[in-house]
Amino acid sequence: MILSENAGNYLPEQCQYATQVKSLLNERGVICPKAHIVTFGCQQNVSDSERIKGMLLLCGYTLTEDISKADFVLFNTCAVRGHAEDRVYGNVGAVKKYKKANPNLILAVCGCMAQQQSVADKFKKSYPYVDIVFGTQQHHRLPELIYRRMTGKRVFELALDNAAIVENIPVCRDQTLKGWLPIMYGCDNFCTYCIVPYVRGRERSREPDEILHEAKSMIDSGFKEIMLLGQNVNSYGKGLNCDINFAKLLRMINDIEGDFRIRFMTSHPKDCTIELLDAIRDCKKVERHIHLPFQSGSSKILKQMNRKYDRESYLSLIKAARERIPDAEFTSDIIVGFPGETYEDFCETLSLVKEVKFTSLFTFIFSPRDGTPAAAMPDPISREEKGKWFDELLLAQDEISKELNRSLIGKEMTILCEESLGDGRLSGKSEYYSSVSFDGSEDLIGKFVTVRVESYKNNTLYGTVIN
Ligand code: SAH
Ligand code: SF4
Ligand code: F3S
Repeated sequence: MILSENAGNYLPEQCQYATQVKSLLNERGVICPKAHIVTFGCQQNVSDSERIKGMLLLCGYTLTEDISKADFVLFNTCAVRGHAEDRVYGNVGAVKKYKKANPNLILAVCGCMAQQQSVADKFKKSYPYVDIVFGTQQHHRLPELIYRRMTGKRVFELALDNAAIVENIPVCRDQTLKGWLPIMYGCDNFCTYCIVPYVRGRERSREPDEILHEAKSMIDSGFKEIMLLGQNVNSYGKGLNCDINFAKLLRMINDIEGDFRIRFMTSHPKDCTIELLDAIRDCKKVERHIHLPFQSGSSKILKQMNRKYDRESYLSLIKAARERIPDAEFTSDIIVGFPGETYEDFCETLSLVKEVKFTSLFTFIFSPRDGTPAAAMPDPISREEKGKWFDELLLAQDEISKELNRSLIGKEMTILCEESLGDGRLSGKSEYYSSVSFDGSEDLIGKFVTVRVESYKNNTLYGTVIN
């Protein structure tokens, strides 16, 4: 549990609240206060939780995996699909019994689901034991929110005012080799199915100096992989008063001295420029993998999704990328059963998948989100029917993955050794996207090795270290 070195520059008033929380906990006899954090949703949420943990450490808490021992429980929630939301209510309900046993226990809910007024109202009315609910743009005030709850009423802080990004929030990272680095927050794209722009607010980019500073400090602390995060990293820099875009940012991070790798997600096809592809080609520290969600292979459905590209332009983008980076691997997100999608439309998705040959896919059945345009569109196809299409897609991808894996036999890849699998085996990811397993001693963990691929099983490649 290490706080980043920027903790000293965090908002002075929040530092004061943190000190006050610490002494209140002490006065109330909470010895060694413990916090338990549960994170749902995407990497953005995981990264937010690392900052939440940083602020909790500043307030005197230590982290615990054991919820029954916690004095502070927080659920950082996701709203992107219905399933993500359903799980939260059950989890929150289960904390009631711990609160009975520990009257000092504070229960907080934050994140994208909590940002929705209807959800916050539900917590207010039906979950009286939830102490603090705060939105996606209020994280930086956590010490204050805890202080207010400890000295007064339940706290609901949901303002989504798109104010300036607060920098220097202390961060307590979950991992030591691979770290998240948010470069922008929010989304302005309003894809018609998606709740994110409503719950995360407007797109705001961090200043390049702040990003470079954080990247350098991560590399100095031994991180070997930096994952740049944003809902649409390709539009990074819009609204900043300097000559910057994502391609330029990649080159700047690539120029930082050190032995590390750069990954990024998510790229929106509409903003993926030739300048960016050239930067990926030129920057040796940048992975040879592009996560480029196309969502649907039908231009008609893409228009209804408000994605701002069509099937042809997506395919030409893949072609342009392959011309520059011939061995690039691609992955994608796909939605099956968007309202009004016919089986013929779905077949266009299937044919695009077969044409591009993605390394792997993240596939979802359309889930209507209240307040989005797609939730109000006629949706005549049954869930059962959509399920059949979904299975057909998985089956097709399975064949493609096998074929791709077969074609990788004999290829040499650079692997960041991440973990020991026991029995003298290690695993890690390549500069492409593949997971690779190989024989090696544990002192290789944290180092880059070259591995020649020899076989594959399911989605793992097996190989031998050649240097
Ligand atoms: N900003 C990223 C995606 C973030 S959400 C991008 O534009 O690529 C991650 C994925 O969840 C999306 O790519 C989409 O495939 C899926 N998704 C979003 N809303 C959804 C919904 N209402 N139903 C089903 N899947 C959805
Ligand atoms: Fe959602 Fe579209 Fe924004 Fe991605 S780009 S977060 S899918 S609105
Ligand atoms: Fe979920 Fe919010 Fe991420 S809705 S997917 S946690 S941005």
